[in-house]
Amino acid sequence: PQLEMHAQDGLCLEGVPLNAIADKYGTPVWVYGAGTMRARYAALRDAFAAENVPMHIHYAVKANDHLAVLNLFREQGAGADVVSIGEFLRAAQAGIVAKDVVYSGVGKSEAELEAALCAGIGQINAESAEEVEMISAVASRLGVVANIALRMNPDVDAGTHAKITTGLAGNKFGIAAVDISYLYARAAKLPGVRVAGIAMHIGSQILSTEPYHLAYEKGAEMVRALREAGQSVEVLDIGGGLGIGYQDEPGLSPNAFAAVVRQVTNGLGVRLMMEPGRYLAGPAGVLLGSVILQKQAGKRFVVLDAAMNDLMRPAMYEAWHGILPLDATAYRSALSPADVVGPICESADQFANDRALPDLKPGTRVALLDTGAYGAVMSSTYNARPRPAAVLVDKGGFMLITKRQDIQSLWDGEIVPGPDQAPS
Ligand code: LLP
Repeated sequence: PQLEMHAQDGLCLEGVPLNAIADKYGTPVWVYGAGTMRARYAALRDAFAAENVPMHIHYAVKANDHLAVLNLFREQGAGADVVSIGEFLRAAQAGIVAKDVVYSGVGKSEAELEAALCAGIGQINAESAEEVEMISAVASRLGVVANIALRMNPDVDAGTHAKITTGLAGNKFGIAAVDISYLYARAAKLPGVRVAGIAMHIGSQILSTEPYHLAYEKGAEMVRALREAGQSVEVLDIGGGLGIGYQDEPGLSPNAFAAVVRQVTNGLGVRLMMEPGRYLAGPAGVLLGSVILQKQAGKRFVVLDAAMNDLMRPAMYEAWHGILPLDATAYRSALSPADVVGPICESADQFANDRALPDLKPGTRVALLDTGAYGAVMSSTYNARPRPAAVLVDKGGFMLITKRQDIQSLWDGEIVPGPDQAPS
């Protein structure tokens, strides 16, 4: 991320002191750097341009679905990859037109398919034979033609965390390669659908080009085999998954990725699409928290006002996120190991284990780094903790883009049975 430590202003994101944001809006607070997101998008786009590969980028809304973020990527020219009608409507709300949206996911309900088709969605990636039939039925009933791609499960190990790998035979995702040709031919004959091509997505936080190479080779082979069998294949959607550097590991280089894509798809004659999320948004975000207290209990615990309900990744995947104090003065004290935790009543409510950190007095603030993707979107209100505010930094200024949730709104919509209203 574009973070810098200044002697006076402390930690700054894109030149804006994070302390100024916390002073104004309190903590915990999400902060997103618009310049970083634009720079990430440009790096990816330019990597493909340098390889002479025309690539259609569909931002994976699930990574960070804030309207301001969707709007930013739309301005850069991105379409969207969605996995629910809620995400589809968010994308629409941010001005992304339906034809630039691709709809993925193993379980799209009839109501969702109907809404997407009525709106004129660009492409639906079907993940099973059953779903192809379902899409055909819904589209026929509506009198429209659904543009579909078949998501092939290439049975490739993405070498990532077990909870975020999706392209192995045992995963719930996609259609086994052996079933594709039959299903493709069947879909080509079904009413209400037009099979445009093949889609793939093998996992997330992938740090080497190797699994991509293997998977895309299989995809390209499939395209050739289908054509030999007389099918028309126009589209190859290569999914997302590009990993970023959280600790000291280097992220996947967009240039190396684009080179693999060119190598494998050279001369294939398909319209290429991709669905990156984390690569674009992850490094652009930080979560700011304040130290409530430091507790000594055999070891040092730094207790923050941010918790696992805000940022789930460490609890869920044992993910590592950098933690930086906002004040330059904090660095004057010696580093010693500390567990950084939240106030939630779960041992899993821990952001870091034995992390080398300076003395962090109550009221000191810290930034949890690289939390622009799969941060706020995965948050909950567990322990009746309202959702934090969010702030966008852009061109040297900042603005509130999400108000901190009112505590009262936590019980909005809840009904207490009483004498006038009882279960019946
Ligand atoms: N396309 C499909 C079909 C996907 O399932 C995903 C992510 C993406 C694209 C975007 O992948 P990305 O480029 O962001 O890696 N919550 C987890 C990550 C789950 C990813 C799910 N699918 C985490 O915090 O690491």
